[in-house]
Amino acid sequence: MCGIVGAVAQRDVAEILVEGLRRLEYRGYDSAGVAVINNNELSRTRRLGKVQELAKALESNPLNGGTGIAHTRWATHGEPSERNAHPHQSQGDIAVVHNGIIENHQKLRETLQGLGYEFVSDTDTEVICHLVHHELKTSDSLLTAVQATVKQLEGAYGTVVIDRRDSERMIVARSGSPLVIGYGLGENFVASDQLALLPVTRSFAFLEEGDVAEITRREVKIFDVEGTQVEREVKESEVTHDAGDKGEYRHYMLKEIYEQPMALARTIEGRIANQQVLDSAFGVNAEQFLKDIKHVQIIACGTSYHAAMTARYWLEDWAGVSCNVEIASEFRYRKSHLFPNSLLVTISQSGETADTLAALRLAKEMGYKATMTICNAPGSSLVRESDMSYLMKAGAEIGVASTKAFTVQLAGLLMLTAVIGRHNGMSEQMQADICTSLASMPAKVEQALSLDDEIAALAEDFADKHHSLFLGRGDQYPIAMEGALKLKEISYIHAEAYASGELKHGPLALIDADMPVIVVAPNNELLEKLKSNVEEVRARGGLMYVFADKDAEFASDDTMKVIPVPHCDDFMAPLIYTIPLQLLSYHVALIKGTDVDQPRNLAKSVTVE
Ligand code: M6R
Repeated sequence: MCGIVGAVAQRDVAEILVEGLRRLEYRGYDSAGVAVINNNELSRTRRLGKVQELAKALESNPLNGGTGIAHTRWATHGEPSERNAHPHQSQGDIAVVHNGIIENHQKLRETLQGLGYEFVSDTDTEVICHLVHHELKTSDSLLTAVQATVKQLEGAYGTVVIDRRDSERMIVARSGSPLVIGYGLGENFVASDQLALLPVTRSFAFLEEGDVAEITRREVKIFDVEGTQVEREVKESEVTHDAGDKGEYRHYMLKEIYEQPMALARTIEGRIANQQVLDSAFGVNAEQFLKDIKHVQIIACGTSYHAAMTARYWLEDWAGVSCNVEIASEFRYRKSHLFPNSLLVTISQSGETADTLAALRLAKEMGYKATMTICNAPGSSLVRESDMSYLMKAGAEIGVASTKAFTVQLAGLLMLTAVIGRHNGMSEQMQADICTSLASMPAKVEQALSLDDEIAALAEDFADKHHSLFLGRGDQYPIAMEGALKLKEISYIHAEAYASGELKHGPLALIDADMPVIVVAPNNELLEKLKSNVEEVRARGGLMYVFADKDAEFASDDTMKVIPVPHCDDFMAPLIYTIPLQLLSYHVALIKGTDVDQPRNLAKSVTVE
């Protein structure tokens, strides 16, 4: 979703800003822009399309100046166009970038028009710059003008404001859209994601909800929602500088698929002792929160929701607690029942997904016994607002299609199953088996990755297809759903997933030679049932691709291609069967020539509703 970068420095900042935008490209956007102040003049360049277009424009007409802001826009109000791209301006004095949605923009627009302000874009953001301009007429500083402005805004914003007449200052404000301040030597920065600023600093402070900050070269002053000056902890980032580089890989997605063994090893490290998963994996006070849990409600979106669906099987089968799973955008707008001793778990790669965050806030109001997040972003809103957190340590995930975050979420959820299970009488043997399985995951994923060439060849079959069906049973049903999401997301082939027992209740009608059917078939207690479903497809002339354990005794023939998946235990099977499905979607997308890392219409971090 939209990205923000801002800088106040003694040197020219346009290049720093554009590099920051490049590092945020993965979030998804449709246009980009930059504005800088030089000799008390505001100059601005905006382009529809990629940051590269903006960079080219700046090469021909460089912008000089030490104070500047930049933005990648993902359209919400108004079509993607140069006119609607940020930064927006008021009277050539004020420039603003903004992430989020101003819900009362229409009313504000009318008021401002009444005051003589002329609107030149269709965006909600433009009200912010005119409001600041208007407030400045009666305020003693840019800071107080912005503070007065944000009091009038309803909705979500992360915003940065500069004024050409006060050229060595940026005012930033956060409510609902994350902002992080980067501290440099004699220069300071702001961004919507620390990744943007890693080339210039490693010291960061995350703004809290309602914070407004004044940033100059020498100083950062932060004020809370009451206007009281506050300190926010400045931490050294653990994210590596090259997290935003593709390295030897053609796409981030492929790099991230191949990083899974390392990411899994990292997420497990230090969290198991004496064949038991430590409660402390979920935070310092986790034991106290987890020991009486009898029900788990999991909330997530997209891929993270599929991880949640998988964990429901585990928590109910092995940990002996009941579990509900719901998509965040549904949970937040309906009345749900609160069971006694319930734990609310959110799952999110980014930690900033607007629906998931709203669901967490609602759950806290409802009185859940405790809240936990399984999250990949240490300083994120979900981590800060939850009682407990499992930090995934998957490393930065740049590709819009989530891959390593999913398998690491599964590992974290298996650990949660072991811990909640222990408090509910899970045998020591089962706990030990889970630990053994967790420890052998990295090596097993390596083996699954060796299927890459075989899957690349198979992908050719999909290039001319428009529809596909994914089938699985039990905890492989969510894996089929995840496989279908990956394929549709990056190759734009329509893909649906079904629990294979449902075939006869409708989807069998779709089966013909043009509808490839992908089956995930580990050698588990549901295998015989699954084989019957495979026969149902075969009898109707369907063409199947079966990812199966070699002991599952499937044989390739005219109607079926069997891809042997390394033998694995039940605890890790969902995770291992995910790998070939990720590779399949990647190779199909490559053949189709789509934008693998930034598929059309999608954003990496969905910070608006
Ligand atoms: O950051 P989150 O895990 O909360 O994101 C949730 C979804 O937006 C995300 O998983 C999305 O479905 C992915 N693009 C799927 O690959």
